[in-house]
Amino acid sequence: MDKAKVASEADLTRIREIVAEYSQEKWALIPLVQGIQNEFGYIPPESIPIIARALGLFPSQVQGVISFYAQLYTEPRGKKVVRVCRGTACHVRGGKTILKLARQYLGVEEGETTPDLEYTLETVACIGVCALAPNIVVGDRVYGHMNPKKAEQLLKKSGG
Ligand code: FES
Repeated sequence: MDKAKVASEADLTRIREIVAEYSQEKWALIPLVQGIQNEFGYIPPESIPIIARALGLFPSQVQGVISFYAQLYTEPRGKKVVRVCRGTACHVRGGKTILKLARQYLGVEEGETTPDLEYTLETVACIGVCALAPNIVVGDRVYGHMNPKKAEQLLKKSGG
């Protein structure tokens, strides 16, 4: 699956505007990349040399920082992130099956985004509501007591 999205000229113009606010401020790398991610939902790879030049850094330094933080993304993300809990309580109550169904219904593997950019599939460690296990989170909402039927209702209609 080709997930790469090439930034348009308009995107690059907007990236340059955001970068200009922090020009020559090495300390500003994190707020700057966060600002770009807030705008685009991810950090377009094309923005990395622009950021590096503006802050007086090497592109590899910018890339290194982005790679270090799990919350920073260089690939487009889905409008909704589906997170299947892989904590122990969820796992023993069928979380593995729920993950398998989520993969099947969305047509993507863990860490991937659907080609229409609607969904990104992830797993998470315990989200703290083990009493409802197995759990799945879609966007900000937790769906507890998951079973194959509920997973189908939740994900199949929207998946590939
Ligand atoms: S293990 Fe899934 S919520 Fe705790």
